[in-house]
Amino acid sequence: MRAFVEQEAQHFSQHRKFNELIKSKGYPDLANLEKEMERYYARLDGASLRKRMAYTSGFETMTIGLTRFMVNRRRWLFKDADPRVASLMLWHIVEEAEHKSVAVDVYRAVCPGYPAWVVGLFHGAFHVLWMAIRGARSMLVRDRRFTLASKLRLAGLLASFFITWLPVLIKSLLPGHHPDHIEDPLWVRQWIAEYDDKEGVPLLDTSHDDIPARFA
Ligand SMILES: [Fe+2]
Ligand SMILES: [Fe+2]
Repeated sequence: MRAFVEQEAQHFSQHRKFNELIKSKGYPDLANLEKEMERYYARLDGASLRKRMAYTSGFETMTIGLTRFMVNRRRWLFKDADPRVASLMLWHIVEEAEHKSVAVDVYRAVCPGYPAWVVGLFHGAFHVLWMAIRGARSMLVRDRRFTLASKLRLAGLLASFFITWLPVLIKSLLPGHHPDHIEDPLWVRQWIAEYDDKEGVPLLDTSHDDIPARFA
């Protein structure tokens, strides 16, 4: 649990720096979404332990599908993208795979209860997804690129995400399921092996056709 919190704290601090940079580069509207999320989480802080734990372990379960989507579709998402941005996103999602079972194990040990967990899964997953869509929309509007073409691309991206994510969601909802039953993609295991003796966030080669889990 301590390692999980430390890992998430690292994610927070790196994404904090990234978000500050993005906002300073011409997307100040994102600050409103951040404030909205802060208010939301402040309210959630007052909820029962069961509800907060179900939100966390539900969201963490959903990241397994997100890992699969981002890794399988990495060429489509990140080919020729800024390697610093691609590496930050994929670094985060690999670490989500590393700690995928922690929140579920803690939930089951501290406040077991299947119905509340299912509610938490939908709550956590769709809340974060909804905020991500709004963030993307806000940036496209700012760029004056929220055109029919980009709406269709966004819809295509969401459809592709759901095709990968839904089987994971269905498996996760089966009673007796454990996140460890879902194998990590090979690319994730290669990253973890490659990263073993490295420091900091490594850089991927996004100009490579396959964006392999090898670092510059
Ligand atoms: Fe994280
Ligand atoms: Fe996580």
